[in-house]
Amino acid sequence: MSDKDSQWWRDAVIYQVYPRSYADANGDGVGDIAGIRARLGHLRDLGVDAIWMSPWYPSPMADAGYDVADFRDIDPVFGSLAEAEALIEEAHAAGIRMIVDIVPNHISSEHPWFKAALKSKEAKERDYFWFRPGRGENGDEMPTDWRGEFGGTTWTRTPDGSWYLHLFTPEQPDLNWDHPDVRAEFESILRFWFDRGVDGIRIDSAALLLKDPELPEVLEDTPHPFHDLDGVHEVYRAWRRVSDSYGGDRALIGEVWMPDIERFANYLRPDELHAAFNFDLLGCAWDPELMRESVDRTLLAHKAIGAPATWVLSNHDVTRHVTRYGRENTTFSFENNLDGTPVDLELGTRRARAAALLSLSLPGAAYIYQGEELGLWENENIPPEQFQDPMWGRRGHSRDGCRVPLPWTGDEAPFGFTTATPWLPQPAEWKDRTAQAQTGDPNSMLELYRSAIKLRHASLGPEFSWLDLGSSVLAFCRGHDFACVLNMSGAPIALPPHRTVLLASGPLDGDRLPPDTAVWMRLS
Ligand code: NOJ
Repeated sequence: MSDKDSQWWRDAVIYQVYPRSYADANGDGVGDIAGIRARLGHLRDLGVDAIWMSPWYPSPMADAGYDVADFRDIDPVFGSLAEAEALIEEAHAAGIRMIVDIVPNHISSEHPWFKAALKSKEAKERDYFWFRPGRGENGDEMPTDWRGEFGGTTWTRTPDGSWYLHLFTPEQPDLNWDHPDVRAEFESILRFWFDRGVDGIRIDSAALLLKDPELPEVLEDTPHPFHDLDGVHEVYRAWRRVSDSYGGDRALIGEVWMPDIERFANYLRPDELHAAFNFDLLGCAWDPELMRESVDRTLLAHKAIGAPATWVLSNHDVTRHVTRYGRENTTFSFENNLDGTPVDLELGTRRARAAALLSLSLPGAAYIYQGEELGLWENENIPPEQFQDPMWGRRGHSRDGCRVPLPWTGDEAPFGFTTATPWLPQPAEWKDRTAQAQTGDPNSMLELYRSAIKLRHASLGPEFSWLDLGSSVLAFCRGHDFACVLNMSGAPIALPPHRTVLLASGPLDGDRLPPDTAVWMRLS
């Protein structure tokens, strides 16, 4: 294997499979491993290098599988461990690597550890969590006033009168990472999956693991009690030793939401994680100055530490970018509850096409969230009584709108996803966005992604440099003659002198590039 292959995460195209919504083979309305295996050809034809599988472990599904009851098995709704092993093998045979999602900050309240901890105050498992007495005379006030990551409070009282910490839902008790058994258990879980051939681990909520045991309140100008504590780096150094022991081609990829890009880069030091999700561009408005700054900021921080940048436009937690880019306010943050504001889907789609060419030609790895390649938008018309996301009710925003099952074939729902009723409703308008309808249509989003991924592998040079085509145009070279030009001004612009246009996100106006359109070209 060449050095480039062995560091595959540095420039891979990684496709996020959200197993509940990819494809359902057993006819219960929920996606499963058999469905993924049956539709693996879609990913092979798309040309992706790796799959990141959102959690598929046994789980009560209080947070769609991010509440894990057993990290060494598969939830029956998705299939069996044998099927997971078969998928890993088949993906490898198709030239696709596999990344599994590990959730170390918390486990399910149905996990045997937590059950044992609840049963007896003397159980050794008690110390694997954050049990504390309450404040106030009767101990009936929570130990701290910390706000949860989904909003709401972070402590739940147990029948014995003590409280336990959960930064997310009460069904997701936080683990105590100061305890050696917790550390040993997760290192063993990493080995369990590496032994089954997985090529990488996505680490959920990677910056939250450590807590200040004094449990101070969150105050301005004092160190945060649970975000990004220095001690977390020791955990990842130990994980890196585990992954390195498999020959150096197994990657650790952190989910690190952090506004401070330098603190973010600390996770990527040579003896820690191989890569981390960069959400800077995802949160950025559709604005040339801001986007250029975001790209610069990202590349600079990663270069300083020798780590590859990553580019993410959508995932299972955020509003799909076709919708975001079609709104007046094009930024994303969890604080912005933008649901229900007017959306111009045609504009959003045009920009999403251009953004695909941008993110697939910037230096580093590119992530595609399932359905992005079909141009899916957020389903904002799900009746609230069908919402399953625990964030709904805590933050007044549901992430279900981006988790709707994929449309594969046919003219009406469920579009080949299932033979039953899909677990979330699909918009009728998706009849034009099925994989079947788009295959072979040169103007479709799917064919744009297929062509771009193929060209990306063949055409991008290693060096990155900006091309100055004015402040409203994002333009850069990769190597000596490959260029990506994205017109973010309100009017067509002249293309720079070139030999060939390799790919365009929309129709050109002669030799002019219309607004919200991107091209890849060979310069002359
Ligand atoms: C981040 C995951 O992406 C999200 O879906 C989940 O709810 C939280 N972490 C808690 O595990």
